[in-house]
Amino acid sequence: MENLYQIKRICCVGAGYVGGPTMAVIADNCPEIEINVVDRNVERIKSWNSKDLSKLPVFEKGLSEIISRTRDKNLFFNTQIDFAIENADMIFISVNTPIKSIGLGAGQTSDLKWVESCARQISIKAKGHTIVVEKSTLPVRTAKTIKDILFASEDQLAVNNKKTFSVLSNPEFLAEGSAISDLEEPDRILIGGEDSKSIDTLAAIYCKWVPLEKIIKTNLWSSELSKLTSNAFLAQRISSINSISAICEASGADVYEVANAVGKDSRIGAKFLKPGPGFGGSCFKKDILNLVYLCNFFGLKEVANFWESIVNINQWQQDRIYKKIVESLFGNISGKKIAILGFAFKAGTNDTRESPAITISRNLLIEGAELAIHDPKVQSEQIASSLEYGYEIKESDSQDLITNERRWRFYKDIYKAAEDSHALIIITEWNEYRELDWEKISKKMYKPSWVFDTRGILDKSNIQKYGIKIWQLGDGSGND
Ligand code: NAD
Ligand code: UDX
Repeated sequence: MENLYQIKRICCVGAGYVGGPTMAVIADNCPEIEINVVDRNVERIKSWNSKDLSKLPVFEKGLSEIISRTRDKNLFFNTQIDFAIENADMIFISVNTPIKSIGLGAGQTSDLKWVESCARQISIKAKGHTIVVEKSTLPVRTAKTIKDILFASEDQLAVNNKKTFSVLSNPEFLAEGSAISDLEEPDRILIGGEDSKSIDTLAAIYCKWVPLEKIIKTNLWSSELSKLTSNAFLAQRISSINSISAICEASGADVYEVANAVGKDSRIGAKFLKPGPGFGGSCFKKDILNLVYLCNFFGLKEVANFWESIVNINQWQQDRIYKKIVESLFGNISGKKIAILGFAFKAGTNDTRESPAITISRNLLIEGAELAIHDPKVQSEQIASSLEYGYEIKESDSQDLITNERRWRFYKDIYKAAEDSHALIIITEWNEYRELDWEKISKKMYKPSWVFDTRGILDKSNIQKYGIKIWQLGDGSGND
């Protein structure tokens, strides 16, 4: 134990989808450590402190139980960022790192302004020795930027020997929807760094519930790059099977049969071979674009092109689904009501970031459709911000400008959403969509009624028997 730093207080900057659940699981397993999760977003912190646990800002199975066990015992959510930093022995940087929207590298690399401001705040406020942990997913060599900022203040104060830092990379591999089980039983914990005492100190925290053999210790750059590579490999599998879904539709094959047969090869494996409307979520696209940017930076154009094609296929998949819908509805959806079932980027989460539902809905709105949107977990305000954010309307579409916001409505009741609709599109694979009363729905919809199942979760014959036409992704049986 004398080879470890003593960690009494942890501060996590960023109370988002990663910071909140990750710190909750650490708090649950390390009751002797006080953890302050801080955020500049006052509303988010209020939600984390909400007495009604259904109002937590992040919906994850098992999260509310952990929060009720730990909150205000050794886990605290607050906005006192300076105070939490000053008192922390270890600080996790868990802030957002979205793709830059303007300036150099816009649309390609992560915007690190939140990471940088966080590092500056730590450099000013930290006291004594502080272990600073990169939890956010970052472009390779960001630890260098963080170190430069931190060590600048360390140098200034070296005379009094008042503050010192070590920087670790400890990327998070949780997936939304299964965050708590991913955190409680991770495949691996990755810690990159240069200072073995700090690495061992962080490893000792995880050792409270993670078997030692799952903890990988490596250098900073390998750790940062491993995170980007893991996400790129996962996304690559999805784009691969999605590309095959199109061949299936054209050739008469069935993508689920193909995925099953391919996944049975133990060298390939069955996971991440589910075809769908394209990957969403805050990570895959951003992290691949970061990898592409890095490749271009190092002059590796062919490698950059290879990874960029994964993102291109993803976009193409979303576009081809939207085109299929328009073509099936006689090439005209103007004024037609279309029900969108599912707005979250996957089942089990209330997160809509990069959800295929956004692209598909926007395209349908541009074509003039009226959307009836349902999702069991996503709030209507969230849908509004997803649909309107960055939505550019050409001058010639000025009529749409007035009505765009009103041409979609949020429905709590799936059957009301289906009422008078011409088509129903399954975008998120929520369980409630698997067990719908199709007889009831068939009576409410316009004829011909269409169902587009982008997740392959519906029983086709059970829908066809009520006279509804159905298109399922990757189903080529219509060619027989
Ligand atoms: P998020 O947007 O949900 O949360 C980030 C939070 O940080 C926000 O609440 C924001 O207000 C806060 N913040 C930003 N700058 C701040 C500052 N200077 N001081 C205080 N608070 C600040 O993001 P997230 O989904 O939790 O992702 C965080 C990081 O983790 C990203 O780098 C992401 O790529 C990575 N990651 C995300 C997931 C995931 O499933 N969401 C999984 C693994 C890794
Ligand atoms: C991902 C990584 O899985 C996780 O390790 C990392 O820490 C963050 O990014 P997340 O985006 O939360 O997690 O969810 P994930 O389950 O990976 O799904 C991402 C997207 O891919 C979703 O839109 C999902 O519907 C889609 N997907 C996933 C498929 O289309 N097919 C699959 O087989 C798996």
